[in-house]
Amino acid sequence: MYLDCAVFENYRNIEHFPFSFDREINILYGKNAQGKTNVIEGIYLFGSGKSFRHAREKDLIKSDKNHSQISIAYVDAQRENKMSYRIFRDLSRETFKNGVKIGRMSNFIGNFKAVLFCPEHLSIVKNEPAERRGFLDSAISQFNRPYLSALMECKKLLEQRNALLKNYEKNKDSFALTAEILSEKLAADAAYITEVRAKYLTRLFALVDTYLRDMTGGRESIGFTYLSHIAGKETEELFDRAANLEKYRKLFQKDIQREILIGTTVSGSHKDDFEIRLGGMNAKIFASQGQQRSIALAMKLAEGEISKEESGEYPVFLLDDVLSELDRERKNYVLSELHGRQVIITTCDEADFAGISHAKKIYVENGNYTYI
Ligand SMILES: Nc1ncnc2c1ncn2[C@@H]1O[C@H](COP(=O)(O)OP(=O)(O)OP(=O)(O)O)[C@@H](O)[C@H]1O
Ligand SMILES: [Mg+2]
Repeated sequence: MYLDCAVFENYRNIEHFPFSFDREINILYGKNAQGKTNVIEGIYLFGSGKSFRHAREKDLIKSDKNHSQISIAYVDAQRENKMSYRIFRDLSRETFKNGVKIGRMSNFIGNFKAVLFCPEHLSIVKNEPAERRGFLDSAISQFNRPYLSALMECKKLLEQRNALLKNYEKNKDSFALTAEILSEKLAADAAYITEVRAKYLTRLFALVDTYLRDMTGGRESIGFTYLSHIAGKETEELFDRAANLEKYRKLFQKDIQREILIGTTVSGSHKDDFEIRLGGMNAKIFASQGQQRSIALAMKLAEGEISKEESGEYPVFLLDDVLSELDRERKNYVLSELHGRQVIITTCDEADFAGISHAKKIYVENGNYTYI
């Protein structure tokens, strides 16, 4: 998949700019706070449907404007496609693919595929569980639509179930029946979500192992332990959706009195996590900073590889400010692995890329972009 053009209008500090990208390496460089990450963020909206910086939609609109629009043209194995993403100050949003309005976000995500790598991802080994879940969810959602739908439904069900738990006194008469219906639906979604995540991680870490050995020449084995309320000794146990469902059902029944007291759902796939293990030890505690970064890099490369296995073509790689954080050896490794794929890189230091002669270079200054 290749991103050929992206037209930004009134997005963050960009009033209007039509970008055209090379199908290999593109480098956006310039001083801090000029509008480099804004471009990556705008492109990745088409991959994940939201800002990777957790920004509110209204913050994406240029401060003196009423609406913002980004349009992209990309080619996949089938054809050239056009997509647009419009945001209005009243928080409404419109999305289009090839001129047709897309109603549901679950139909928008999964068309344009991208792997994002930003500085926060370098510490994925020790970040909060929510960030590791976020990694899984955005990676899997781009090629697995039923998973994305289950995630969205699960979020709604959780809100409803939590509201019910909080208002137990008011709803005493109907509580038992409503709780049972919501718990059953939630257990079904959670059983499926945990199954898909466990399978994805198993696949991912087989690739991470290869990348890591290649990158560092290390001989320590890399792996993960799935952390879930329903996890047993072996990850494979979680591949059995019917068994997962039974376990979640039991948990919801067991916990209900406690949940009424605290007014929230205590277990489910929304609490899943995974611990990364290097040489049999918890990497969060035992791996050095450099090792943790190498693991993060290997995870991103593996994410791209699985995306390719699923869709038949590589996604677009978006590297926001990460290469300058890596030592020469790791940087060269990443660049050689990404050779032949489309990469859009941001950096403050152009000198970082002095050795790359065939890159398209774009100088960034105060929301203005100049091809060099
Ligand atoms: N809604 C908005 N309207 C106008 N300007 C905005 C808006 N949101 C952000 N900005 C501006 O965009 C700039 C930040 O852009 P960006 O995050 O892309 O910087 P950067 O070039 O990646 O910098 P760094 O090298 O520090 O990461 C800031 O000057 C900020 O004030
Ligand atoms: Mg930036």
